[in-house]
Amino acid sequence: MAPDQQHDPGSVQALILVGGKGTRLRPLTLSAPKPMLPTAGVPFLTHLISRIREAGITDIVLGTSYRAEVFAEYYGDGADLGVNLTYVTEEEALGTGGGIRNVYDALTADTVLVFNGDVLGGTDIREVLDTHRTSGAEVTLHLVRVGDPRAFGCVPTDADGRVSAFLEKTQDPPTNQINAGTYVFNRDVIGEIPAGRPVSVEREVFPKLLAEGRHIQGHVDAAYWRDMGTPEDFVRGSADLVRGIAPSPSLNGTCGESLVKAGAHVASDAVLVGGTVVGSEAQIGPRARLDGAVIFDGAIIEAGAVVERSIVGFGARVGRGALIRDTVIGDQAHIGARCELLRGARVWPGVQIPENGIRFSTDV
Ligand code: GTP
Repeated sequence: MAPDQQHDPGSVQALILVGGKGTRLRPLTLSAPKPMLPTAGVPFLTHLISRIREAGITDIVLGTSYRAEVFAEYYGDGADLGVNLTYVTEEEALGTGGGIRNVYDALTADTVLVFNGDVLGGTDIREVLDTHRTSGAEVTLHLVRVGDPRAFGCVPTDADGRVSAFLEKTQDPPTNQINAGTYVFNRDVIGEIPAGRPVSVEREVFPKLLAEGRHIQGHVDAAYWRDMGTPEDFVRGSADLVRGIAPSPSLNGTCGESLVKAGAHVASDAVLVGGTVVGSEAQIGPRARLDGAVIFDGAIIEAGAVVERSIVGFGARVGRGALIRDTVIGDQAHIGARCELLRGARVWPGVQIPENGIRFSTDV
């Protein structure tokens, strides 16, 4: 490759894996795939596509499976976001590695950036590509340093930054570097992944390459990073976007304590703090208090209700004086007046809980 081509992002394609069922975010993912859940007012995937576009990469493949049709209906060919989107769908989900292998025939560039479709990050994508090119690796992994690596498999590197092992979760990790879910692959390596069967990139592809002595480089940084796979992380990530703690080109630098979408109605004495988002056509009643809440389109929060660190699904209703904390409320569910839902409660879509129907205290 000529030197003047080496930093041409146009010679790079991106693949975003969006085919997972998102079981940890049920019941929200029963109706929408995880990357399409609204986050700071737009589908989560829009933030990721905007970041890829900002790095100068416009040729993007979506590796779909679960609810594949939803992506094409919303994004079409990607022109609205200034990118060229194509879709490759797995009839049977093939896992993260199988999903990468499945798009092989749609790849035209020699260098392929692969993203898990649920990672919120602030890393400079161009720097990850630079690491790949200057190290001469066949695969480069973005690794992020976390405060407590015990909940993750960790990925140590040697003095030259080469990945030396993939370790399972352990109480005594030798490094705080974890796999951040963004990879650079030389296209040929993708062709080596077994085709037509489920393959995990983390548990099968990377360990096999290492065992063969192949060059996997680590790109380590401490930029903002969050896997949006659980309700706790989804709520935190959404709030961080609203408050500008997590960067997103699609928010155009508009950040504050809350974000209210056009068409929503918020009573003048309602309190919205902690990176709360109110979706369009949603209604927030008098004296309601929302702290780090994610209120989807068309949901109703009645007078005096309190919603903290929780997600309220499309068209759901929270009754007067209810307390909702660390909870997920499915689409169209109705929570009766003065109910209390706390500590990881999940209400399935359409469920109706009567007034005072569930409480964690006796002072009704
Ligand atoms: P959970 O069921 O809650 O673990 O979520 P998930 O199904 O999304 O799995 P996980 O978080 O491990 O997936 C990481 C990324 O890979 C997500 O963006 C998924 O959409 C994507 N992914 C997971 N499995 C597949 C698959 O079989 N095919 C494709 N194309 N993508 C997948």
